[in-house]
Amino acid sequence: MFNEYLTLPNGIKVPQLALGTWLIDDDKAADAVKAALDIGYRHIDTAQAYANERGVGEGIRASGINREEIFVTTKVAAEHKDYKSAADGIDGSLKALGLDYIDMMIIHSPQPWVEVNQSDNRYFEGNLEAWHALTDAYKAGKIKAIGVSNFLKEDIENIWNNAEVKPIVNQVLCHISNTPLELIDYCQSKDIVVEAYSPVAHGEALRIPAIAQMAEKYGVSVPQLCIRYDIQLGMIVLPKTANPVHMKSNADVDFVISDEDMEILKHLEKIDNYGDSSFFPVYGGKLKGYSGKPGTEEI
Ligand SMILES: NC(=O)c1ccc[n+]([C@@H]2O[C@H](COP(=O)([O-])OP(=O)(O)OC[C@H]3O[C@@H](n4cnc5c(N)ncnc54)[C@H](OP(=O)(O)O)[C@@H]3O)[C@@H](O)[C@H]2O)c1
Repeated sequence: MFNEYLTLPNGIKVPQLALGTWLIDDDKAADAVKAALDIGYRHIDTAQAYANERGVGEGIRASGINREEIFVTTKVAAEHKDYKSAADGIDGSLKALGLDYIDMMIIHSPQPWVEVNQSDNRYFEGNLEAWHALTDAYKAGKIKAIGVSNFLKEDIENIWNNAEVKPIVNQVLCHISNTPLELIDYCQSKDIVVEAYSPVAHGEALRIPAIAQMAEKYGVSVPQLCIRYDIQLGMIVLPKTANPVHMKSNADVDFVISDEDMEILKHLEKIDNYGDSSFFPVYGGKLKGYSGKPGTEEI
């Protein structure tokens, strides 16, 4: 899988498989990133909100691999909805990562996390301000590609219709048993590359019998089936693990799910909860409070 790349509308090539790093602590991130790079991963996904950009940067340097061969994605915190805080955040990410440039930077969410699933305010003005900060950093060469995450059609249209530089990526929740087919179609119709986060349903896919049965049919593991599914939807896929054995098997997805089985998987019954992680806004949960750092969520 390591030789598969997608090309962004601005000509930049992105490795289709990335290592997700959400919930990998900063002091463990360097080892995880170095292990992934040793195995062959060339795309790492982090975020200001994961509080591990420092460790990710350390892992990149420790790998000894040329910087140009590695694609690093990070995210402007969802709470940064004005130009200054977004611009300061971008510089903060460059500093924390210890890098001269970032390959891709995306707005983490159209709404601050404490408002997701509980407010109709889509922050159109605030997202345009954050977008202008990203655009200026892009023009200054600090970032090679800019995009969004968790954006719905109306959020994308706001940027598309009002900004000079268009978003070229939308990173969204997408896995077997929860696939936003209309949004994916809409993005791809505008040449926006779609990235699938939580491809293993944050681990919950391992508990769904219908997915296990299909994985057995192909003689693969549940995570392998899940990752292959998103690849066949034409997406960049970001499985998270700090376990090198899992990193290796997650990249071993050189098999093909038939068109017929893809249709079955697209329409599997929607997952009804994400277990202990259901409180996270990305899985439909509501937060009472959140400081912007992992572990400070009030539910
Ligand atoms: N933009 C956003 O708002 C957003 C939101 C969520 C996630 N993301 C990104 O997407 C990445 C992935 O999503 P995620 O972290 O929610 O979860 P995920 O990749 O769907 O699932 C991770 C879980 O699956 C397990 N797993 C992975 N590979 C496995 C294997 N081969 N065998 C057995 N278990 C395996 C992991 O356990 P082990 O660690 O034990 O392997 C972990 O419990 C994140 O890390 C982050 O980079 C972005």
